[in-house]
Amino acid sequence: MSNTTYSTYLKLDKLLSVQNVRSDPPEHDEMLFIIIHQTYELWFKQLLHELDRVKILFSGNDLFDSIHLFKRVRMILKTLVGQLDILETMTPLSFNSFRDRLDTASGFQSVQFREFEFLLGYKRAELMAYMKPDYYGYDRLKRRLEEPSLIHHFYELLEHRGEEIPAELRGKPSEPNRPNEQVQTALLRLYKTSPELAILFEMMTDVDEGMQEWRYRHVKLVERTIGSKQGTGGSPGVEFLKKTLFNPIFPDLWAIRHAM
Ligand code: HEM
Repeated sequence: MSNTTYSTYLKLDKLLSVQNVRSDPPEHDEMLFIIIHQTYELWFKQLLHELDRVKILFSGNDLFDSIHLFKRVRMILKTLVGQLDILETMTPLSFNSFRDRLDTASGFQSVQFREFEFLLGYKRAELMAYMKPDYYGYDRLKRRLEEPSLIHHFYELLEHRGEEIPAELRGKPSEPNRPNEQVQTALLRLYKTSPELAILFEMMTDVDEGMQEWRYRHVKLVERTIGSKQGTGGSPGVEFLKKTLFNPIFPDLWAIRHAM
């Protein structure tokens, strides 16, 4: 007879033993702060798992499974945005009661968040300067910067559908996604002639918008919680984060809207 139980399968002894508050005596809200961030990291792991699969599906011209997984990615992102509501129940006073325990720790150092950006093709090589080789996952992040991102596999899907992709977009995996008129013409044509591809393009636009929504909600969370204070990661805080707003991941999908 098998000895597997709910807790052994999920390794709950490990999972539930790492929510260790640093404040002493313990501040009530620090537990929430830790659990929210750990939950984010688990969902980041799942997002990477899904999109690594989508890369293979795109290259294999498997449209319907790609749509299916993009739908899932979109739903996870909605959950990630929604989770900020929970953290916004923490007042600035309450956060302040344990903030100094974070020392220089900051979400800015989340390797998996950067991996997610890089995987999508939102690559900013200059950010590697802020990541230290001893950060958990650093080598993986470096690999992601250098390897083809989702957009390169997306171009392969478009080629399977008879479109020509300019050579200059294909050969530079570490380059960020760049708008390109030839790709925009192809996308516009496919939007009009291939309804099933249009569904995928809309899902990708949803994911792009979802990331922008997360950034906006995070800025407002930060603003209401620390105002104009500097970040624990050393940035000017809100003013720095505002500069990350309204930047698309897939610029071509936004550039063609007026022509539809
Ligand atoms: C009270 C809650 C929070 C505050 C006050 C806060 C504050 C900040 C600040 C000030 C920065 C800029 C870097 C720095 O100087 O530290 C930042 C960046 C960041 N935070 Fe938060 N944060 C909070 C919650 C969260 C949560 C729940 C997540 C989820 C993982 C998160 C993820 C990130 C990420 C990924 C960045 C980098 C953003 C980018 O470079 O585009 N933060 N945060």
